[in-house]
Amino acid sequence: MTDDRNIELRKSGPLKGEIIPPPDKSISHRSMIFASVADGVSRIRNLLRAADTISTMNAMRALGIDIDDKWEEIMVAGKGLYGLKEPEDVIDCGNSGTTMRLLTGLLSGHPFLSVLTGDDSLRKRPMSRVISPMKDMGAEIHARGGDSFAPIVITGGGLKGMDYTSPVASAQVKSAILLAGLYVEDETTVREPHKSRDHTERMLTAIGADLSVEGLRVTIRGGARLGPMDISIPGDFSSAAFFMAAASMVGGSEVLIRNVGVNPTRTGLIGIMKRMGAGLKILNERDVSGEPVADILCSYTGLLNAVETGPEEVPAMIDEFPVLAVLATQAHGTTRIRGARELRVKESDRIAVMTEELRKLGVEVKEYPDGMDINGPVRMKGAVVKSHGDHRVAMSLSIAALAAEGVTTIKGISAVDISFPGFYRILGEFGRSL
Ligand code: S3P
Repeated sequence: MTDDRNIELRKSGPLKGEIIPPPDKSISHRSMIFASVADGVSRIRNLLRAADTISTMNAMRALGIDIDDKWEEIMVAGKGLYGLKEPEDVIDCGNSGTTMRLLTGLLSGHPFLSVLTGDDSLRKRPMSRVISPMKDMGAEIHARGGDSFAPIVITGGGLKGMDYTSPVASAQVKSAILLAGLYVEDETTVREPHKSRDHTERMLTAIGADLSVEGLRVTIRGGARLGPMDISIPGDFSSAAFFMAAASMVGGSEVLIRNVGVNPTRTGLIGIMKRMGAGLKILNERDVSGEPVADILCSYTGLLNAVETGPEEVPAMIDEFPVLAVLATQAHGTTRIRGARELRVKESDRIAVMTEELRKLGVEVKEYPDGMDINGPVRMKGAVVKSHGDHRVAMSLSIAALAAEGVTTIKGISAVDISFPGFYRILGEFGRSL
């Protein structure tokens, strides 16, 4: 699909004001999937309405689940662990890796045939990381490229537990295995090399799953009845990150971001930005539906220093690297990002794409297999740059445009609808759209 929507952005004056970021994407997907296999009606407030989460909503409906969308909240009529029905057609996961990977786990527990596919980007992303453990547990799965790429054809059921050590720190892999583990009589354990986001563990425990966490090891015992949930979804830290970066780069800015999820498995960027010298204050910390939530005050400090990040820091800020690369352009010294090879298999190859696009703005970037070096500070010059169909690349380049001289044209901005449909409206409210 060609995306011919473009936007022109100019170098920005101070950003001052308050924003409420869109609801968390990871928690939105999980709430619909888990509620579908719980017994009874779940109530979900502040669900993200964006292309990715609509893919999950449509998928659950295709599996026979009644979802009543009342806009300010949705009601999911869960049918219990064994209530899903065989879908009548192929399930289209769109651009959403979370939908495809979590459903591969869930559907591996079901003795009917389902087929998952997605858009051009998703069909290129590695699926063997979930297919292979599901086959080990006993599901029959076939996929393109030697069981590596979607479309994925699943006939599940008859699973047995296992103790699986994942080669990658991935919440999607961990979640797929835990979902399959609901359909196993004995225990299923998944171990990961570094801690990835833990929303699945928190949410499944809250609705009654028999799950235990010990460091990097999570064990689930199947068969427990899941109860309905009543949750309010916090704002997405990964969406807030764009405005944290903007306020830190644009002279005189002060932005209060309200109602942001600050689960420590997501907020690695806070530590990194503090190390760089950014002005971040975490205010009004509270618990909402089992997740830590806060307001974040971001103020321009006038001085950013380069940082170095390594593999242990990557999972807690995996989605924030494109915007960290932009921040690095305004930091004194060489920012070194390493241990982030996973960025190459996101919605785009984010190492290659950010290297290519930042160079167009005049930034000196060196590309490595697992990261990049970025020299700063640099006076970026407006240019024509491309999203490569990747929502986080589109938004990161838009933030870069606020610090670049003259006009920057960002091509392919429809991609932002994947996670943050209101992004340009909020920028506009700061007076930043041309
Ligand atoms: C996600 C996990 C991460 C992240 C993605 C959302 C999730 O992917 O990059 O945007 O909701 O579980 P990986 O599990 O591939 O690291």
